[in-house]
Amino acid sequence: MSGAGDQAGRVNLRSALRQAFRFALEGLAADDVVAVPEAEIAGLVEQVRETADAKFGDYSGTMAMALAKRAGKKPRDVALEIIKRLITAPGYADLFEPPGDPVGPGFINVRVKDDALAAVVSRAVADDRLGVAAVEHPQTVVVDFSSPNVAKPMHVGHIRSTVIGDAIARILRFRGHRVITDNHLGDWGTQFGMILWGWKHCRNDAAFGADPTAELGRLYRLVRKVADAKPEELAADPTAATLAAEHPDAAREVLAETAKLHEGDAENRALWERFMPVCRGEIDRIYARLQVTFDHTLGESFFQPMLAATVDDLVAKGLARESRGAIGVFLGGEDDPPLLIRKADGAFLYATTDLATIQWRLENWEPDRILYVVDHRQSQHFEQVFEAARRWGVDGVADVDLVHVAFGTVLGEDGKPFKTRAGDTVGLEALLDEGVERAAAVVGSGEEGRAGMSAEDRRHVAETVGIGAIKYADLSQNRTTDYVFSFDKMLQLTGNTAAYMQYAVARVEGIFTKGGIDRGQLRRACHGVLLSDPKERALALELLRFGEALEDVEADSRPNVLTAWLYDLAGCYSTFYDSLSVLKAEGAERDSRLALCDLTGRVLRRGLDLLGIGTVEKM
Ligand code: ARG
Repeated sequence: MSGAGDQAGRVNLRSALRQAFRFALEGLAADDVVAVPEAEIAGLVEQVRETADAKFGDYSGTMAMALAKRAGKKPRDVALEIIKRLITAPGYADLFEPPGDPVGPGFINVRVKDDALAAVVSRAVADDRLGVAAVEHPQTVVVDFSSPNVAKPMHVGHIRSTVIGDAIARILRFRGHRVITDNHLGDWGTQFGMILWGWKHCRNDAAFGADPTAELGRLYRLVRKVADAKPEELAADPTAATLAAEHPDAAREVLAETAKLHEGDAENRALWERFMPVCRGEIDRIYARLQVTFDHTLGESFFQPMLAATVDDLVAKGLARESRGAIGVFLGGEDDPPLLIRKADGAFLYATTDLATIQWRLENWEPDRILYVVDHRQSQHFEQVFEAARRWGVDGVADVDLVHVAFGTVLGEDGKPFKTRAGDTVGLEALLDEGVERAAAVVGSGEEGRAGMSAEDRRHVAETVGIGAIKYADLSQNRTTDYVFSFDKMLQLTGNTAAYMQYAVARVEGIFTKGGIDRGQLRRACHGVLLSDPKERALALELLRFGEALEDVEADSRPNVLTAWLYDLAGCYSTFYDSLSVLKAEGAERDSRLALCDLTGRVLRRGLDLLGIGTVEKM
């Protein structure tokens, strides 16, 4: 059965069943029972999902209703016609029981055969990929994420893109895609004008010598206030107020510094070269703590040499033209504002770089898909850039899927954008520190905890739990909505939190230490998992849904599908473990249950790893 498994014999049960349904629906059309247009079949078979209630079976297909309506027939009759063909689909009978009578308004409920389930889960136990089949058609996917504007400190707003993008990249890679991650740094923008201006007017050499990052950060914050010249901000900052009084034209001068940098002014260019390693050092420290890496960090500056040609080409193709001195791509009617690609003063814009970047990526990486993990406030920017790129018609653009993976804002517990008491945005580093510090209080509260942990162990556990909590809290939200940042909630040991999941892993794996069991040997010696108790069966089936969860994450770039599933798996495991004896069981039954524990531990651990979250042995 192609598409439902891979060469190594891994089976994705839901895909196998969907394929059988596809066969049945095609038969329905061929036999003229219901006209099902080929184009709609994919959507209809996706209606095969796990049943909401296990008493009805394992999976259920609900398409009979829609089809019956179309054909003017009874849903039950259409369902019976589907079932008749389903059971003859190639491979169906190897994996699934014949469905019973359609239920309710034509639901077709399917149960996996016990012996097939036992065989598939036994193979997963012996498998490094934990039974997860790789995708049949691997794609090249570029993930553009994190992408902060450097020279200003990273703040809480950067966490979402970084964490969500990293998880998506890991998951797609595990599914078998060729993933290329690129940190599209904002390393060429007006923030450099600010630190250039600050450097020239108010730098503190001693401070720069002692801590260059802190000094650049200070200059950025100071000059931003001077340039913005908001009375209430100046009133609160005498240094800024004095500077603002001395330089009433600061805002314009800051822009001029940026313009000089872009024009290749030797002094500004040399300073930029000097500042960049400092800025990179700052963000790299944060990435190291988050354990996030990138294949490439090209940054906006990398594309600068290509921008003039980009504008020229768009003009030559008749897509861009002058509009009040500037140049814009006209996407809508005459009266709609164009997408600006060159300002009247000659400066290029954010959109110009994004267009050049698309062309460069297509030429050099030949991607099938590019994901942009960026704040939802940039939706319009991406809509316009994608549309302009398509019209521009650069090589490969017709076949690439350009996707804006948008996310909402991080809110404070007051429901407003997350700020410090003083009203500043919260620095990312301070946030991570606080998470780790608070986690240290939780560490050692578990049974085994306090006893056997060295100070160094405790620090490591606190770091893993603290950073994990922050990441998981973000990943477990539906990414498109805003979410409230709460240390108290995210560090709870119950509920759908990283700490709970990490604790679950430590507990599952603790069994092997307690029983003195060699897991490698267990896997080799396990001659087949036994599923005599319904709780064993339920756990086995849940474990095999790992691949389905990952598939669903990919479909809509939603890591929260994985966190929700991992939480369900942990619950399913508790039900199993609380009611059946494992270490005290005997013979083949003991081995089989231990094998299920082993697989659960590995799946939970791998699942967390695919979210970029670490695990610990004890906590
Ligand atoms: N630097 C931008 C910002 O901080 C995000 C860049 C996202 N990626 C892109 N290709 N536009 O808002």
